Amino acid sequence: MSFLRPGGQRPLFRPILAGLALAVGIGMATAETNTHEITMDMFETDHRAPLVLNETEKNYVLWEMREMLVAVQGIIEGLSNEDMERVSSAATVMGTHAADQVPAVTVAKLPLQFREWATETHEDFDAISIAARSGESPDMLTFRLSGMLNTCVACHATYRVEVE
Ligand code: HEC
Repeated sequence: MSFLRPGGQRPLFRPILAGLALAVGIGMATAETNTHEITMDMFETDHRAPLVLNETEKNYVLWEMREMLVAVQGIIEGLSNEDMERVSSAATVMGTHAADQVPAVTVAKLPLQFREWATETHEDFDAISIAARSGESPDMLTFRLSGMLNTCVACHATYRVEVE
């Protein structure tokens, strides 16, 4: 007997189904008030400012980005296990030294605001690494991580890569 087949519905199911429909309705209404309505025409144009790079530079920037995500994953994994050594070693990989190899010619192509946010992010990774080693609380480290992620979010909202 199919649960949803009208003929097979026992009277008791009707209020349950009505309750479920109401719950789903409320859930959707709540979700709607919390999010902006997304429509496909919002995506016809990417309004973010382009970073005009050559193919190699693009691949480098995107590789560095993926490495930052790896570092964030390591930090969160360390925090969840209260393994501060893991937090520190994951964060240190993307510290300020990580930006040292970028050729001056590439740096010159990057807008000032991009460079400032990039430097800030690398400095935040260093700060998290040092704080984890100096016994800072997981709460405070999480707060630092959240602050750093705001910079990732701001930069992603502002720039995109374009190949020259
Ligand atoms: C200074 C600016 C800036 C900061 C800071 C920044 N990003 Fe990015 N990120 C970018 C840009 C630009 C792209 C390319 C977006 C595009 O072209 O659509 C990108 C792309 C990415 C990608 C996609 C990589 C791929 O292979 O396509 C990941 C993952 C990423 N960023 C992670 C992070 C994380 C995690 C952080 C923070 C810890 C971070 N980014 C901080 C600018 C930034």
